[in-house]
Amino acid sequence: SLYPSIAALAAYLLGSLAFAVIVSRVMGLSDPRTFGSKNPGATNVLRSGSKAAAVVTLLLDAMKGLVPVLLVRTVGKRWGLDEGTVALVALGAFLGHLYPVFFRFQGGKGVATFLGAVFGIHWALGLATAATWLIVAFFFRYSSLASLVAAVFAPVYYLMGKGIAWYAEAEVAAALFVMAALLAWRHRANIKRLLAGTESRLGAKKTS
Ligand code: G3P
Repeated sequence: SLYPSIAALAAYLLGSLAFAVIVSRVMGLSDPRTFGSKNPGATNVLRSGSKAAAVVTLLLDAMKGLVPVLLVRTVGKRWGLDEGTVALVALGAFLGHLYPVFFRFQGGKGVATFLGAVFGIHWALGLATAATWLIVAFFFRYSSLASLVAAVFAPVYYLMGKGIAWYAEAEVAAALFVMAALLAWRHRANIKRLLAGTESRLGAKKTS
């Protein structure tokens, strides 16, 4: 069937909507690609000083991962779509955010979209991953470090949940591993700054 590929392509196009750029434009804020980390993501929008814009960006970017996964698991079931397609649309949306067709393929780091997809895969997996992010962010005050730790743990939680809270599917586990690896790759400049002690803390405003 062509449906899994069509679903993945639709998810990719949705993922390509860089909401950090769109929301900032709509709210009259500077383009997040021009200041701070230059990343089109909620964390960098926060550096503009607008918490509201950052929260809206976070929610909309998360929806890009959540909605396709939930659609496949509900409506998609009736069309014969299975967990393999869940994995495909999660990856599609995530790759759209990282390499958006509408923004010269220069996207973000995937944290919000990853979290959205993870919530769609299982609400408890989403809660555990989000809690991991919050705990690290609370104690260390680095968004990037919190994202990296949460991304590493998400696939681990997924496999741990197998037989306890849900059935783990190989395709979904693989998609989680691939997304976590790409997310870490996209944070390579953050990792360098963390090691050098020059990473900007949550709450710090833009300096340029
Ligand atoms: O949203 C991505 C976050 O983990 C890091 O963002 O702007 O500090 O590179 P940023």
